[in-house]
Amino acid sequence: MMQNNYYSIKFSDDYLTFLDQTKLPLQEVYVTTDDYERIAIAIEKLELRGAPLIGISAAFAIALSFKNISSNHKEHFDQVYKRLASTRPTAVNLFYALDRMKKVFNSITDHSKSYQPLLNEAFAIYNFEQFCSNKIAENGFKIFTKKSNVLTHCNTGSLAAGGFGTAFAVIKKAYDEGYVNHVYADETRPLLQGLRLTTFELEKNAIPFTVQTDSMAAVLMQQGKVDLVITGADRIALNGDSANKVGTYNLAVLCNYHNIPFYIAAPTTTIDRKIATGSEIEIEYRNGSEILSISGSQIANPDIKTFSPAFDVTPAHLIKGIITEEDIYFFPYNFIR
Ligand code: MRU
Repeated sequence: MMQNNYYSIKFSDDYLTFLDQTKLPLQEVYVTTDDYERIAIAIEKLELRGAPLIGISAAFAIALSFKNISSNHKEHFDQVYKRLASTRPTAVNLFYALDRMKKVFNSITDHSKSYQPLLNEAFAIYNFEQFCSNKIAENGFKIFTKKSNVLTHCNTGSLAAGGFGTAFAVIKKAYDEGYVNHVYADETRPLLQGLRLTTFELEKNAIPFTVQTDSMAAVLMQQGKVDLVITGADRIALNGDSANKVGTYNLAVLCNYHNIPFYIAAPTTTIDRKIATGSEIEIEYRNGSEILSISGSQIANPDIKTFSPAFDVTPAHLIKGIITEEDIYFFPYNFIR
């Protein structure tokens, strides 16, 4: 998505170019590839990340893998699908996108001509996510009744999604309309998506902000500095239980205690209609070395035992509203349609 003078991904001339998010904000390095394996690695390493963007990137990866393939098409599709599905387990957008690609592949009669229809589908997924960002921003704007201070967690902007993002798109729209006074961005340990990526996007969009470590959010709330909290999500169960970047659950509990509204903003592609509650969400556990080092510099004994879930699940009753491209849904949630 092109915005200001940076973009998360761009597809042109049969190549995907993406911004390596592990190097932000100090370096803006773009990688151009037509190799699905390179894209799979980028997703694993969080060079490409954020639930909707993972799905979009995987869709382009599948299409690109058919650019030059001449035989064994079905076997090839299954292998590429499996590889991409193995990259990260929690964001359901990945599986949503892969399954859309599979449906298209299965509908093609001459598999030697799969590239173009697969590419068309990848663009359709991308375009839909851009549409969702705009609608989420419009719908989310309705929760603002006065000029507010907003706290957010992780990164939910154009680096994480199509368009301007999810929670970030709501914040940007509300700021543009004069309804955001200040943004408090959680640092988001251990990979610092808030400190590195959200501050990068807030700066690029000229939105006033302060950054704090995750544990400092409670003090901000106690001091009356936070009017509302909005985050994204990686997978939402049918009852509204929502998995998002670890630390989100802490915020929801804090909001509940301080009587501050806690909202989630996500496209409906983040709703997993196969699961009833959050207990069925597979949580990714990442290598503990990510806690013991920062940007490749060791900060503690590498042999220390760690506990490193990448996501947590916020129970539905703690979520005041789930802002989607369709509407804002309120507790008790029931996404069965
Ligand atoms: O591990 P990440 O950086 O991919 O986690 C991203 C998040 O948790 C985001 O909040 C979520 O994907 C919503 S992004 C629009």
